[in-house]
Amino acid sequence: MKDLSPRPGDLDPIEIASRDEITALQTARLAKSLRHAYDNAPFFKARFDQAGVHPDDFRSLADLAKFPFTTKSDLRDNYPFGMFAAPRDKIVRIHASSGTTGKPTVVGYTQADIDTWADLVARSIRASGGRPGDIIHVAYGYGLFTGGLGAHYGAERLGCTVVPVSGGMTERQVTLIADFKPDIIMVTPSYMLSILDELRRQGIDPRETSLKVGIFGAEPWTNAMREEIEAALDMHAVDIYGLSEVMGPGVANECVETKDGLTIWEDHFYPEIINPETGEVLPDGEIGELVFTTLTKEGLPMVRYRTRDLTRLLPGTARSMRRMDKITGRSDDMIILRGVNVFPTQIEEQILKCAGLAPHFQIELTRDGRMDAMTVHVEAAENAAADEARLASSRELAHHIKSVVGISARINVAEPGQVARSEGKAKRVVDNRPRDL
Ligand code: DLL
Repeated sequence: MKDLSPRPGDLDPIEIASRDEITALQTARLAKSLRHAYDNAPFFKARFDQAGVHPDDFRSLADLAKFPFTTKSDLRDNYPFGMFAAPRDKIVRIHASSGTTGKPTVVGYTQADIDTWADLVARSIRASGGRPGDIIHVAYGYGLFTGGLGAHYGAERLGCTVVPVSGGMTERQVTLIADFKPDIIMVTPSYMLSILDELRRQGIDPRETSLKVGIFGAEPWTNAMREEIEAALDMHAVDIYGLSEVMGPGVANECVETKDGLTIWEDHFYPEIINPETGEVLPDGEIGELVFTTLTKEGLPMVRYRTRDLTRLLPGTARSMRRMDKITGRSDDMIILRGVNVFPTQIEEQILKCAGLAPHFQIELTRDGRMDAMTVHVEAAENAAADEARLASSRELAHHIKSVVGISARINVAEPGQVARSEGKAKRVVDNRPRDL
């Protein structure tokens, strides 16, 4: 793989600023942002008043803990535009995320917000090893989802040539990769696996494509999956994180030279980790729920937004800003099986240890009498599809899951191609348990 480390002069000054400079900038921007939310969004004014805090109470970063949290249900309760802090006619873009239940959450951007977003995605692509002039194949969905348009504006901002393919039509994805010879692909990691299968089906050696970097996000994925994808495609695989409520893709991104977790663009987003049960702020290094406060957003400022994503904060390495570990999972996706907490990423890691298995999987939950049961549906690798090989892989996976994760799971090793393929965010858990009355 090519060395894509940044050259001197490539980085924004703030990416190499001292910690003191970053703290000073955050403090000044937070004071302004809390004031903006209070003065312009009746929702935040009511919330702060109710909690007995005022923007003037914020003097240093530690004071942020006095302010109330914001949650997804606040956005739902104020559907569609009730939390905006800019006049409707200053909102130039709307996005929405569907979620699994109820109304979608709607977010809005002013022109300045769109500009900041484009700058931060450009910075993220550059951290991933992208350069002006690169061809970027964007296979994140375009539309209300922030992935496609977020990636698109950032790639243009960096000075790249964008191929706005969006998700789906996998055969065509492969044709365009073969014909346009992109340097970079931006796509969910699970959809990358579908594209990888299709490359092979069309007789193209995946290690011989023009792709140098994949910028993967929008769903949890593991370092084991990184190794799998990097080996299969002979390209760098880096992680991009974001969420609509805070901005979209580009809130944090891995640096290609270290691949050691995601640098949070702390000049625009202030991260905290909290204990999800008590709301107490945890020190850096401890695992908990990630919370963000936006520092510069106009249309929809967010104060202590609870992401439900679980990770920990780490000191900066390739940049002076702090990193977050790869996301283990969302608290909503945590499976509790006979008292043991399990995340789909833990199952992914075990599958990738088994040479006879392909990396596609889905977890099904059922109920046997009063006990919950988990079945892992996975497929045999092409060269290990015979009955005996599948039986051996199934035993191997059951053993790894039992000894590392600590639960007994049923394993169904299907023939190649039998597990549902992803064209965007993968659906990892299918819950077929009867609903409690
Ligand atoms: O998924 C934004 C995005 C698009 C990020 C493209 C990266 C690339 P939402 O649809 O609002 O926005 O979903 C946000 O997706 O809270 C996480 O649970 C999950 N997520 C996003 N990126 C990652 C990642 C976009 N790199 C939710 N690793 C977030 C793990 C991720 N989970």
